[in-house]
Amino acid sequence: MPSENAAPTLDVDQILADPGVRIVVCCGAGGVGKTTTAAALALRAAERHGRRTVVLTIDPARRLAQSLGLTELDNTPRQVKGIDVEDSGGELHAMMLDMKRTFDDVVLQHTDPTKAAEIFGNPFYQAMSSTFAGTQEYMAMEKLGQLHARGEWDLIVVDTPPSRSALDFLDAPARLSRFLDGRMLRLLLAPARTGGRSMFSLVTASFGMFSRVVQKVIGTQLLTDLSGFVAALDSMFGGFRQRAEQTYRILQARETAFLLVAAPESDAVREAAYFAGRLREEKMPLAGLVLNRVHRPAVSALDATASRAAAERLASVGGHERTVEVLRAHAALAEQAVREQQVAARFTEAFPQVPAVAVLAQPADVHDVDGLRTIGAAMSRS
Ligand SMILES: Nc1ncnc2c1ncn2[C@@H]1O[C@H](COP(=O)(O)OP(=O)(O)O)[C@@H](O)[C@H]1O
Ligand SMILES: [Mg+2]
Repeated sequence: MPSENAAPTLDVDQILADPGVRIVVCCGAGGVGKTTTAAALALRAAERHGRRTVVLTIDPARRLAQSLGLTELDNTPRQVKGIDVEDSGGELHAMMLDMKRTFDDVVLQHTDPTKAAEIFGNPFYQAMSSTFAGTQEYMAMEKLGQLHARGEWDLIVVDTPPSRSALDFLDAPARLSRFLDGRMLRLLLAPARTGGRSMFSLVTASFGMFSRVVQKVIGTQLLTDLSGFVAALDSMFGGFRQRAEQTYRILQARETAFLLVAAPESDAVREAAYFAGRLREEKMPLAGLVLNRVHRPAVSALDATASRAAAERLASVGGHERTVEVLRAHAALAEQAVREQQVAARFTEAFPQVPAVAVLAQPADVHDVDGLRTIGAAMSRS
């Protein structure tokens, strides 16, 4: 980050060591390193700070899941073995969100077995519970609520879904409330963010005026299924909505710390800034920005211009080829570092009070415990 307008430095140890912090939510655009960051924070909380920690991951890369001992979606936290918690006395548990099963559990909890069976058998439920845009966000919230309610953990670290819009996660409770408020049809049936034209949208568009025509075209069975589904869900609206609102309030509480994860790229930083604004509006506590996968040249004394000039001068006199290559590579890396700092500065200018930390791009993907430790250390000062 440029020194002229440097943001305060984020030290995740302050967050992870604080017993008052019970939930850390990692959010940001897709592909920036949210899942990696969440896992690294949880590992550090257990190893360094002796906290009984659970990390809720969503769609972790397969090799990362494997190194956390997560071999299947089972929707239950499993203790991670082989980590260094002897001194600290902490524990790390990890799980992958199974959105369909979470949805099923919610239905089972809020209705009787007969109605539940009716809902499960309904084609609309089957489609919605596994593919409806936004279901993953709702179910991540639901799972967070469940983990929190069990009161078994000192710290819950939450990864967020790889939605195109990072806001989906934040919108989930409000959308769920609206959804359950009777306007669900429109939401349920809209093709939403998936962009695809679903059968659902066809039904909705025609539900009122043209329902007779639709019945002819797509058959009565479909409409019977739909109204059966609506009636069945109706019976459990109350509890469902209440839970979502409860979770929303937990996100606003002091016990929660949001961490934004961004890559030093325009899109990701723009999304992070927008998200920071939203968190402020929603009165949700933003603890800091993790700028992940940044590049730094090994030597800072030689800037890009000087290095490039030296390379070209040496090349023009037929100088040592390998040296020319090294100078050019150094220049390219130094230029990239400057570009990244300029992009990051846009966030810092807009949110100068938000602490930030840069994590270097590692030479390879981060998929094991050692790699997670490195990332965790990069986010802290000790
Ligand atoms: N600092 C880093 N250096 C190198 N690779 C990284 C770094 N952070 C994340 N990765 C890799 O980038 C990919 C995407 O990271 P991931 O955490 O799955 O992103 P997200 O959850 O935001 O979609 C993964 O393969 C991960 O190993
Ligand atoms: Mg992810």
